[in-house]
Amino acid sequence: MRMVIKIAGALLERDEDVQTLARQITELARAGHELLVIHGGGRIFTATLARMGIESHFINGLRVTDRETRDAAVMVFAGLLNKKLAGAISLAGQPAVGISATDAACFLAEPMQIEDCEGSLGFVGYLTEVNVDFLRSLWREGLVPVASCLGLGADGELYNINADHMAAAAAEFIRADRLIFLTDVAGVLDGDKVVSALRGTDIEDLIRKNKVSGGMILKLEAAKRALAGGVAEVRIVGGAKPRALLAAASAGRCPGTRVLPVVRASAKAVHGAAQ
Ligand SMILES: Nc1ncnc2c1ncn2[C@@H]1O[C@H](COP(=O)(O)OP(=O)(O)OP(=O)(O)O)[C@@H](O)[C@H]1O
Ligand SMILES: [Mg+2]
Repeated sequence: MRMVIKIAGALLERDEDVQTLARQITELARAGHELLVIHGGGRIFTATLARMGIESHFINGLRVTDRETRDAAVMVFAGLLNKKLAGAISLAGQPAVGISATDAACFLAEPMQIEDCEGSLGFVGYLTEVNVDFLRSLWREGLVPVASCLGLGADGELYNINADHMAAAAAEFIRADRLIFLTDVAGVLDGDKVVSALRGTDIEDLIRKNKVSGGMILKLEAAKRALAGGVAEVRIVGGAKPRALLAAASAGRCPGTRVLPVVRASAKAVHGAAQ
């Protein structure tokens, strides 16, 4: 099975979490799955910016990224975090390669424009293309690609891409069978209960009732996009539990939330309803 595994920045904070995930990724790769691992930066990035005296601003959950912030993003995402994760997977037994947008131009981006909003997001982009041949060449050699959430623009600039947007778009471009979001909560929560399955209409309902906010709204929108783009299964799972990734990758019960495609009325049903 071809899978995109998105790992939250928060799960890269503790070495134990990184090692637990690395062991599970190794197990999946050894079982013959073609994996693309994409990671976020979250709080580690915000803390680095604070240390550099750069304030963080968000518009619609997206980080406003001026040139200085973008340069720091490249250092933290493509540098520290990417190498930490690729190193842990390699040490767990499956050789992994940390890649970012510029390597073989593997992830291309265009700047994101936002409507109904003052100001610009700066170097924030969305994914427009994936070099699938490059990824295939890595899989053929038994290597696990570990990608940071950056895209290369036609202008030669690197763009910061929300990691959930990137994972969803990449899953669509590489025709992944499954997209797994590993996050720092047990799944999509309704109050303190994990919602086991959600459809498109439920998502809008949760947003309207203010039951989801911030990063989770972006994640659910990304999940919807991936499903609409042909990815068969999207799962949102707490990544800190010992075998959470293996469970999410299996055919069995999903430990967190399954996001399901909107059921389209079949031609017959539509025809029937019109009579
Ligand atoms: N209904 C909800 N259910 C679960 N989490 C929610 C909900 N509403 C808001 N959240 C918040 O969304 C967060 C997850 O999104 P967030 O963007 O912070 O992390 P991520 O996308 O998993 O990782 P990263 O942003 O580093 O890539 C949770 O930690 C939680 O605080
Ligand atoms: Mg997020």
